[in-house]
Amino acid sequence: MSAPQPPQLPAGFSWGASTAAYQIEGAATEDGKGVSIWDAFTTRPGVVRDGHTGAVACDHYHRCHEDVALLKGLGVDAYRFSFAWTRIQPEGRGAVEPRGLGFYDRLVDELLESGITPVPTLFHWDLPQALEEDGGGWMNRDTAYRFAEYAGILAERFSDRVGRWITLNEPFIHMAFGYAFGVHAPGQALMVDALPAAHHQLLGHGLAAAALREHGASEVLITNNCTPVRLLPGADEADRAAAQAYDALHNRLFNDPLLLGRYPDMSAYGRSEDLGGVVRDGDLAVIAAPLDGLGINYYNPTWITAPGPEAGLPFDMAEPKEEYERTAFDWPVVPDGLTELLVAFKDRYGDALPPVWVTENGCSQPDEMVDGVVDDQARISYLSSHIDAVAEAVAQGVDVRGYFTWSLLDNFEWAEGYHQRFGLVHVDYDTQARTPKASYSWYRDRIAAHRTPR
Ligand code: NOJ
Repeated sequence: MSAPQPPQLPAGFSWGASTAAYQIEGAATEDGKGVSIWDAFTTRPGVVRDGHTGAVACDHYHRCHEDVALLKGLGVDAYRFSFAWTRIQPEGRGAVEPRGLGFYDRLVDELLESGITPVPTLFHWDLPQALEEDGGGWMNRDTAYRFAEYAGILAERFSDRVGRWITLNEPFIHMAFGYAFGVHAPGQALMVDALPAAHHQLLGHGLAAAALREHGASEVLITNNCTPVRLLPGADEADRAAAQAYDALHNRLFNDPLLLGRYPDMSAYGRSEDLGGVVRDGDLAVIAAPLDGLGINYYNPTWITAPGPEAGLPFDMAEPKEEYERTAFDWPVVPDGLTELLVAFKDRYGDALPPVWVTENGCSQPDEMVDGVVDDQARISYLSSHIDAVAEAVAQGVDVRGYFTWSLLDNFEWAEGYHQRFGLVHVDYDTQARTPKASYSWYRDRIAAHRTPR
């Protein structure tokens, strides 16, 4: 008897690859680009492994033609990239830099000529440093208004060629790592006092969504990092309460206001639903304007237990009891977590859940180049099992429209510098040579097979 076949993805399902500006572009001071919080943060000693910075990265700014050719070779329908705010508005407000707009003009045009739909993200963590210095970045309500201004500029320029837009990337991770723990830019370590950075990002999303639509955008999405929260065997009441508190922080804080128009119960963090007084009348209506799609980034589930005496937060992270394969980051490989997450969102939000796009999924692996070849079988197995997990969620009734893998290229992995490689394409950072890995050919063939009539 042959093994049961995984369910098939629907015809018209969209395939893509993702990147982000600071992680690939380099050219950090070229063509009038302003300083971003990541340009500034990476000059601090000790914050990024081995002192790596994104100053050169994959030099995509100068190699964008070659990189679009790689996308074309893959046969993807769509490419998710991000605009660097400081190329468009070097100071985060007012004056616009035409050379920055020109770069993205060329990128968008080349994608379209190659038959690839551009799906830009407006903000992938590289806030103008001027806005950080002005009032604490996203801790400052005014940043939300500056973000809407920037969104309007982009839509005015690009909405003749770009239909589907993503406002923010992973506002949870940006708040937690950037403002609560300080391990990412801007390096603020405010713990629970970082919660205003959640609200101001969401308000920025809502204001930007309106500005995008006003200037002709046809679809507005946001990308959230989401995780199924799992308990250890034998969990008790206290563990379950901890899991609920974690779910509120990681998942609900960033999805409930968008989809239900209210914040979750944050009392476990000693905060009321106005997040300590930053939510003003009318804000939630702005945030909850209907989305055309929800982007979900999935990497792995999170195991939670009741907090120990030293925790300082209403939960502790735990290690799963099961033996999972691990990525180079030591993240467990749990494809059924993706099905679980997507189905749980459908159950939780019902009709309020718009079409879903998996806007990131992928893994870092200890890739080795041997005789010019990177035979990354572990990545192939990761991608294959997660794509099947998406198909299973679709079979269970979740409206998933597309899948973007992270990432097209090896790139600057934030606090890990260039040590974690997530690409379908290997990048030699000394020569900038691009070498498609085995996973590149596999993904190309997987996409082609999906399109072949059965
Ligand atoms: C999510 C982030 O959006 C992306 O920038 C990062 O490289 C990947 N996760 C992998 O950590």
